[in-house]
Amino acid sequence: MRELVAETRVRASDLIYPMFYADGLDSKREISSMPGQFQHTLDSLKAAAHEALDAGVRCIDLFGVPLDSDKDAVGSVGWAEDGVLNRGIRALREEFGDDLVIMADTCLDEFTDHGHCGVLDADKQVVLNDATLDCYARMAVAQARAGTHVVSPSGMMDGQVAAIRSALDAEGFTDVAIMAYSAKYASAFFGPFREAVGSSLRGDRRTYQQDPANVRESLLEAQLDIDEGADFVMVKPAMAYLDVVSRIAEFSPVPVAAYQVSGEYAMIQAAGRNGWVDLEATMLESLTSIKRAGADQILTYFAVDAARMLR
Ligand code: PBG
Repeated sequence: MRELVAETRVRASDLIYPMFYADGLDSKREISSMPGQFQHTLDSLKAAAHEALDAGVRCIDLFGVPLDSDKDAVGSVGWAEDGVLNRGIRALREEFGDDLVIMADTCLDEFTDHGHCGVLDADKQVVLNDATLDCYARMAVAQARAGTHVVSPSGMMDGQVAAIRSALDAEGFTDVAIMAYSAKYASAFFGPFREAVGSSLRGDRRTYQQDPANVRESLLEAQLDIDEGADFVMVKPAMAYLDVVSRIAEFSPVPVAAYQVSGEYAMIQAAGRNGWVDLEATMLESLTSIKRAGADQILTYFAVDAARMLR
């Protein structure tokens, strides 16, 4: 009876699995603050993507982790054809064709030596919005050439969706979709991700990410992204921002995604591994709540585990 009348259902095909491909590894390396998640070699990346697909996950979101020696002030390895992320995309597209939707992170922070999501002014104090847009446009085109189905600008620069859309269209990539990180908060819940990508960041991103105190501002950000041609809008993190998901879902004509981030995963894993909460029940409850709030897709490190349970 409960199943019959359930208002919300989470399906494996709603889930998007974020994965990390790193240069300089002999074998995959577990991310200590994200137990069960790995920085991958090319072989282990392909194997893990096969496991995800076998479990019923149909979309992965790929992040690249370059060698420190490949980082520079503008993050140029992000758009280099042979940069780690573009090599990863190319290999996955060759392996999976259109069976797996490949989404790529379109942001500079993994590739800059200062760890910010954009290029800095001469005093290295301020992220320059418009100069950064040029880099995102180059990066999106490089990712499209490598075979990504979706680009996902996560840097919260103003005008990033329009800049990327016109650059992709000009190169003939009219079918490559944009998942816009529309309401991305300057959040402490991103902590473990910094380890996952070997971030060089000192300081914070409060000059370009949303203030956790604000929701109206996020409605505007989502509307702007929709007007600029976003194919999805996304809220991140998820659980502490379900009101934002809900408010955006009320008016968005495009799908609304939510990203259950590294810190959310880490907290549930830690409590589960300590026996303080039931790991599997907490995982499914968290995903159900995110969908109930109005998310159509959920990016989550639990994607494969949850998909197996949902079968
Ligand atoms: C930045 C980016 C971040 C995450 C995804 N893309 C980190 C940040 O903005 O500081 C966080 C993901 C997570 O915590 O799981 N390109």
